[in-house]
Amino acid sequence: MNLIILGPPGSGKGTQAQLLADSLGLFYFESGEFSRNLAKKNPRIREIVNRGDLIPEEEMTNHVSEYLNAKALERQNILFDGYPRFISQYKFLKKWLAEKGQKVDAVIFLEVSDEEIIRRLSARRYDKATGKIYNLITQPPPKEERVNLFQREDDKPKVIKERIRVFKQNTLAIIDEAQKDGILMKIDGEETIEAVFKAIMARLKQKQ
Ligand code: AP5
Ligand code: MG
Repeated sequence: MNLIILGPPGSGKGTQAQLLADSLGLFYFESGEFSRNLAKKNPRIREIVNRGDLIPEEEMTNHVSEYLNAKALERQNILFDGYPRFISQYKFLKKWLAEKGQKVDAVIFLEVSDEEIIRRLSARRYDKATGKIYNLITQPPPKEERVNLFQREDDKPKVIKERIRVFKQNTLAIIDEAQKDGILMKIDGEETIEAVFKAIMARLKQKQ
């Protein structure tokens, strides 16, 4: 099963993706982490990511396909978080999977309001050692993990607003495409982490 998890910044893509990848045994591709790694080596990309903009669509696709091809995956049981973010990237992914007779089984769209996004992202923290996502308000880390916590460069209020704008401008259109393809799975992302996870799992079960 190949899944795409899509939603505005802070909608819980990474949080749910970690749970889904663990419980379904999927290869987890996180485009945000991938982009931040590109940014470390490339000052132009760093500037784009830090201001909340998207890496040019084709350039990103070139990097992603190079990375995925090098992994020599069977092109099944992959969970894509944050890629695609443009229609061209969605089309590329469908073609890339079709080359090996595979397809996207579901596009999970987490719906969350702008107010909730801002509330969540200003309190988000990462554990540098484990990559686990926490939230000072909604998902506090255990005491022993509090030393490694860091905040993302793009989680400043002004940049968060820009990321929401960029999401609406570029990525929302994929929802319509997925609907036409009959694989859209809209999920209320404002419920608790556990409730959202249960809702996704229930919907995936219905599909089988
Ligand atoms: P990316 O890292 O993917 O950023 P994003 O889409 O803005 O999403 P986030 O990672 O901020 O949020 P999330 O939905 O994963 O939420 P999380 O689970 O952390 O991309 C970063 C940048 O990379 C882009 O801006 C761009 O520059 C570049 N890039 C990436 N992909 C690209 C592409 N395809 N093309 C071009 N450029 C690309 O949760 C957020 C917080 O809320 C956490 O603190 C969490 O604990 C908490 N939380 C989660 N769920 C709940 C819940 N149900 N209730 C309460 N709190 C919750
Ligand atoms: Mg994320």
